[in-house]
Amino acid sequence: MAADAPVIAVIVAVSKNGVIGRDGAMPWRLSTDLKRFKALTTGHPVIMGRKTFESVGKPLPGRLNIVVTRDHDWHADGTVAVSSLGAALELAKAHLESFEPDPDDPDAEPPDTIFIAGGGQIYAQAMALADVLHVTHVDAEIEGDTVFPDIDPDVWKAMHEEGVPAGERDSHPTRYVVWERGL
Ligand SMILES: NC(=O)c1ccc[n+]([C@@H]2O[C@H](COP(=O)([O-])OP(=O)(O)OC[C@H]3O[C@@H](n4cnc5c(N)ncnc54)[C@H](OP(=O)(O)O)[C@@H]3O)[C@@H](O)[C@H]2O)c1
Repeated sequence: MAADAPVIAVIVAVSKNGVIGRDGAMPWRLSTDLKRFKALTTGHPVIMGRKTFESVGKPLPGRLNIVVTRDHDWHADGTVAVSSLGAALELAKAHLESFEPDPDDPDAEPPDTIFIAGGGQIYAQAMALADVLHVTHVDAEIEGDTVFPDIDPDVWKAMHEEGVPAGERDSHPTRYVVWERGL
């Protein structure tokens, strides 16, 4: 029996003025958000651009790491390199379809979501394909060189909103919003 199509989810932290990065890194420290990122994405395939992978520096554990690059010779242990976002999505879908339950946890829900984790170039191409946006809105105007596309209110509806005060290891308060494509 054919499984339901997987959910394609963008996951991002973005400042009030649309910035997501500066000098190849994230221009804030948001430990609370990184914990949410880990909780949401673990067990699911994660797609990222080559520059984002190099900024993270190592594969994200417990997830299939798919890196998009035009460089056919590019390789990093613990990742699979593909030459387009479309190829990344196909690979992620095949990975979800081949899911085998863990004998120690046979009732665990099979993963059904493909996460797109940036950066700017990959988000720009993914917006038209995504079903859901997990957006951490950083409550500050930040200088940077990489931006997230505008979230068009005619297309995206906020389905869940949660204010997150700055914790000890967070440089800013944030608002976590799950945006779903309107009907
Ligand atoms: N705030 C957040 O949530 C968040 C999340 C992720 C990243 N970031 C930030 O975003 C910045 C990086 O973003 P970026 O836009 O510079 O780079 P990126 O999107 O991470 O990666 C760009 C690279 O992806 C490959 N690529 C892009 N489109 C492709 C296509 N259609 N086909 C094949 N390969 C393609 C190319 O790799 P090759 O050059 O190897 O061909 C390109 O140089 C960093 O500052 C990072 O910290 C922020």
